[in-house]
Order: sequence, then structure tokens, then C-alpha cells
Amino acid sequence: MHILVTGGSGYIGSHTCLELLQAGYQVSVVDNLCNSSQESLARVSRLTGKKISFFRVDLLDPSGLDEVFQKQTFDAVIHFAGLKAVGESVGKPLVYYQNNVTGTINLCEVMQRHGVRDIVFSSSATVYGIPESLPLTESAPTLINLITNPYGRSKLILEFVLRDWQAANPDFNVALLRYFNPVGAHGSGEIGEDPNGIPNNLLPYVSQVAVGQLPRLKIFGGDYETKDGTGVRDYIHVVDLAIGHVQALDRLRQNPGVVTYNLGTGNGYSVLEVVSAFEKASGQTIAYEIVGRRAGDIAACYADPSLAKSELGWVAERGLDEMCADGWRWQSMNPHGFPMAGK
Ligand code: NAD
Ligand code: UD1
Repeated sequence: MHILVTGGSGYIGSHTCLELLQAGYQVSVVDNLCNSSQESLARVSRLTGKKISFFRVDLLDPSGLDEVFQKQTFDAVIHFAGLKAVGESVGKPLVYYQNNVTGTINLCEVMQRHGVRDIVFSSSATVYGIPESLPLTESAPTLINLITNPYGRSKLILEFVLRDWQAANPDFNVALLRYFNPVGAHGSGEIGEDPNGIPNNLLPYVSQVAVGQLPRLKIFGGDYETKDGTGVRDYIHVVDLAIGHVQALDRLRQNPGVVTYNLGTGNGYSVLEVVSAFEKASGQTIAYEIVGRRAGDIAACYADPSLAKSELGWVAERGLDEMCADGWRWQSMNPHGFPMAGK
């Protein structure tokens, strides 16, 4: 089976390529390298001893994309390519809608033209907006006006685009995977998250404090109605997430139409719990101060992952300590991320 992975040189994509190769799939990647380095794939090839075909193509270039599909035959697509910086999306909404929505439509058109019928799509728990109740099941309402930013709205729009596309093409199959908070790195320390500039997300920020690149963590809000007043999230090890994609591909082979799965652990950890787990994993003290809440943040968010367990046979196996230990190994082995990152 030959899988095309869009955005495959990025954080989650590179970990998924590794799991696909280890599971015996042939892998090709399309990426424009706007937020990643091809070095990640060179390392995946070294770790697995297997080759990845790489095409530096932008999803906004339909003819470039078509050429890729002319050169190769794919059995399915895993679609990670997209812009993901929440704050940036507020300032550049048209860039985000153009890249994420138009890019995905271009991809679907090329797939349709070449008879490729199965797609796994990177969605996000952000589509639930402000949860009415916890844990979140897949049937919880997704309300576009409760999503606080264009990035998140582009994900919900794309869920509808893909549903409508499948409804018009009943032979097609779509897996919408709603990720909770992906963190950590492959256990080798060779690949991991390499954020551009100062990280927005908690774990990369904490690891840069631990490695001495940032002076202290600002904890956004200490007065939420949570176990210790700080925000609670469902952090999921990126390797568990990557394995979820391989299992979603198996599911699509059963011709299910559209399926939607939460990929999370079901456990909510507070910012202070994450800080303390990271201190344990790294042996470093994480300096922090509690400041005001960040606009758009919610108090708590965690998954009910039981549907993925019953239908995919998937469960997240790695706990918070392993997420922190593996994240720290990557950060300490690669304090400046990938060399020659394409950014
Ligand atoms: P990433 O930025 O590391 O990877 C995305 C990749 O897509 C990058 O390699 C980038 O160069 C590429 N890309 C972007 N636009 C492109 C285009 N027009 N054409 C070709 N390539 C393009 O991000 P990630 O963390 O690996 O996220 C992967 C996907 O998962 C994204 O769609 C993201 O929105 C989604 N997601 C991520 C998280 C998270 O916390 N990391 C959470 C929920 C959903
Ligand atoms: C954010 C995005 C979400 C995206 C997800 C994963 C928003 C509103 N949501 O979610 O769309 O899918 O990242 O990429 O931005 N925190 C701090 N200090 C920091 C950074 C974070 O205290 O420097 C806290 C936050 O307030 C939150 C928790 O850590 O309670 C996790 O934050 P973060 O990693 O940014 O993820 P989310 O906010 O869940």
C-alpha cells in the first residue's frame, strides 16, 4: 500500500511517516517546507532503513500536485499540510483560509481525478469550541461561533467540506481525526517538534525554559475552576497519535464513509502538573510566574476516546511522564531544532 502524506515533513507528519514505514507501507510526502525541514524525513529514513519519496510542492499549486499523482499511484492520503498558529491566524485570516481550505479543496480535486478515494484528515479538538460538558465525545456540538480564531474555524469548515464531498461520492472514505494536545517526540530523540520562533504551546515553551533558551514560563491564569486553578488539557504523545493514523487507514479499507474520532488519552492534566512532570523528566527547575488568562483559552478540555478504542482498536499507551521524557530527549539532543530548518 502506497500512502501520500501531505505535510509529512512536519511534526506529526514525520512521526506518522515513521510508523507507516515500520508497518510496511510505502510512503511519499508532499510538503512546501513552509514550516519544516526535509532533515526530519532524512532522519526517519535513517531510523527505519526505508526510503521516502519527497515532492516539494505547495497544495496551492494544483498542477504541481497533479504531476505528483501522475508519477505515482496512491492507495490513500493522510492530509496534515496546513498552517496552525492560532495567534497568526487572527492577524492573517485570508492566508489561513486560502492555505488550509483552498489547499484541501485542491487536494480533493486531484484525488478525485486520479481515483484515490481514502483520506485521513488532521482535525482538532478546537472544533468543539467551549465544551458544554466533559469529557468530549464525538457527538458533542461543534459550533463555529464558539471557535475563537480563523485557524480553528478552518478546521471545522474543512470537516464539512470533506463530509459534503464524501456524500456526493459515496465510494469515498474520510476519517476526521480530532487531536487533543499532541506533545513529546519519538523515543530516539531524532525527530520532534521544531517550532518557529517563540513557542505558543505549553510543552515546547516549557522545554525551552528547561534547556535555558527562555527565562521563565508564564502560566496563563491561576483562577480557573480546575483542580489547581490552571488550565487542564488532554496531552497525547505524538507517537500514539501517529499510530492512530495507521489504524485509521485500516478502518477506511472497510468502506465506512465518514468516520470521526477523538484522539486523546481521556486524562486531563493542569499546567502545574505538566511543569512538575517536566521537572522530574529533565532534572531541571522550570521557573514560572502566574499571569492573566490568555484570550480565547478555555478552562478544561479532555477527550472521551472510547469510540477510537472500540472502532479502531486504538488506545493511547504513553503517559505524561513518557511524553515529558521523550520531549526532553529531543530538546536536549537538538537544542536549536533541525539544522538548516527551512524557515
Ligand atoms: P507542522 O507545521 O509541523 O506540519 C504541517 C506541515 O504542512 C509543515 O511541514 C508545512 O511545511 C506543511 N504545509 C503547510 N502548508 C502547506 C501547503 N500549502 N502546501 C504544502 N505543505 C504545506 O504542524 P503539525 O503540528 O505537524 O500539524 C499537522 C496538522 O495537524 C496540521 O493540519 C495541524 O493544523 C493539525 N493539528 C495540529 C495540532 C498540534 O498541536 N500540533 C493539533 C491539532 C491539529
Ligand atoms: C492551542 C490552540 C488549539 C490548538 C492547540 C494545539 C488556542 C486558543 N488553542 O490549544 O487551537 O489545536 O493549541 O496546537 O490557542 N499555557 C501557559 N503558558 C504558555 C502556553 C500555554 O500557561 O506559555 C497554558 C494554556 O493557557 C493552556 C495550556 O497551557 O491552559 C495548553 O496550552 P496550548 O499548548 O497553547 O494548547 P491549547 O490552548 O489547548
